[in-house]
Amino acid sequence: MTEKDFIPKPYSSALEKGSFTWSSPSNIALVKYWGKKENQIPANPSISFTLDACKTTTELKFSKKSNSCNYSFDIFLEGEKKDDFKPKIETFFKRIEVYLPFLKDYHFVIETSNTFPHSSGIASSASGMSALALCLMSVEKELNNKSEEYFMQKASFLARLGSGSACRSLEGDLIVWGKHNEIPNSSDLFGVKYPFKIHKNFKNYHDTILLVDKGEKQVSSTIGHNLMHNHPYAKQRFEQAHDNLSKLKSVFKEGNLNEFIAIVESEALTLHAMMMTSMPYFILMKPNTMEIINKIWKFRQETGLHLCFTLDAGANVHLLYPEKEAEDVFKLINNELVAYCQNGHYICDRIGFGAKKVK
Ligand code: DP6
Repeated sequence: MTEKDFIPKPYSSALEKGSFTWSSPSNIALVKYWGKKENQIPANPSISFTLDACKTTTELKFSKKSNSCNYSFDIFLEGEKKDDFKPKIETFFKRIEVYLPFLKDYHFVIETSNTFPHSSGIASSASGMSALALCLMSVEKELNNKSEEYFMQKASFLARLGSGSACRSLEGDLIVWGKHNEIPNSSDLFGVKYPFKIHKNFKNYHDTILLVDKGEKQVSSTIGHNLMHNHPYAKQRFEQAHDNLSKLKSVFKEGNLNEFIAIVESEALTLHAMMMTSMPYFILMKPNTMEIINKIWKFRQETGLHLCFTLDAGANVHLLYPEKEAEDVFKLINNELVAYCQNGHYICDRIGFGAKKVK
C-alpha cells in the first residue's frame, strides 16, 4: 500500500445530506511513538492497548452546499460551540482533502463528546480524530462502496494525518503502527491488528489512569516530536523501539509478565528521558508522578504482583495490571495512590476492542 492507493477515483454516487455517528476509544502505547518524519510518518514503530471506557463519540451531520470554494463546518463539544477547535480541524481537512475530495462540497456539523472530562489531562486527540475519520469514511462509503478492509485501513490512515496515535484507536485489542520487520503487514501509513496469538494473561488487562495533573501541558506533543530531530540520542532510541517490539512478541506469546513490566516501564521512562535530554529540555512528570512510581515498585517488591506503570506525554500515571490481580491493586489505589491524584480523581479502564458505529 502507498499513499496513492487512498486517492479515490471520481465518485459514482451522489449524496445530498445525512449524518453518521461513531464512538472511538483512546489507546495507551506500550512501545512509544516519539519523533516523526514529514507527513506524520513515525520515526519508529509503536504498539498500544486499545482502551474501552475512555472514548469520544462524534456525530457528523453533512449537507450539500451550493459552492465548493471553502471548508464549511461548525464544531461542538458537549453541546457547546468550540470555535477554538476550528484551526485544528481545518488543518486536518487540508491534509486529507486529496484523499477525500468531497470535503468542500458539504457543510458539516461536528458534535462530539468524551466519556472523560476534557480537562483531565487525557488527550482526546486519539479518540477524537479516529471518531471523526470514521464518520468521514462513512460518508465516502455512500459515494463509493469499497471493502470493509479498505474502509478500516483508510480510516486509520486519515486518523493518523489528524494525530499520529489516533491511527491505533480504531480496532483492538493490540495495535501496531509503523513498519517492523517481524510484524507482517505493519505499515507507517496506518495501524494494523497485532497478528499473532496473545497469551491469556493479557486478557481483560486493566489500565487505571491516575489523574495527577489535569492542567494543560506546558509543551505540546507536536513540539516534543519535533525536538527528536537532531536529538543526540534519537538514533539509539529509534533502534530500541524496534528491539522492544521484537521482545514483546515473545512476551505476548508466552505471557511472561515480568518481562512485560521491564519493557513497558523502560519505554515510559525513555520517553520522558528523551524530553529531558532534548534542547530545549523539559519535564512533564510532577512530584506525585514520582511518588506513585516509587509506591508501585515498593508494592511489587512486597507482594510479587505484576502491577506496572506507563506514562504518556504528561504527568498522569497509567497503572497496568492483569485481571486476576485487580482486587489487590484496587486496595493499593484506594489506600495509598488516590492521595497523589488531583482531587482524588482516577479513571478505571481496561483493554478494549475498538470503535463502534452508533447509527
Ligand atoms: C507520548 O499522537 O499526540 O502519547 O502525531 O503530533 O498528534 P501527533 O502526536 P500524538 O503523540 C503521542 C505520543 C505519546 C506516545 C504514543 O501514544 O505512542
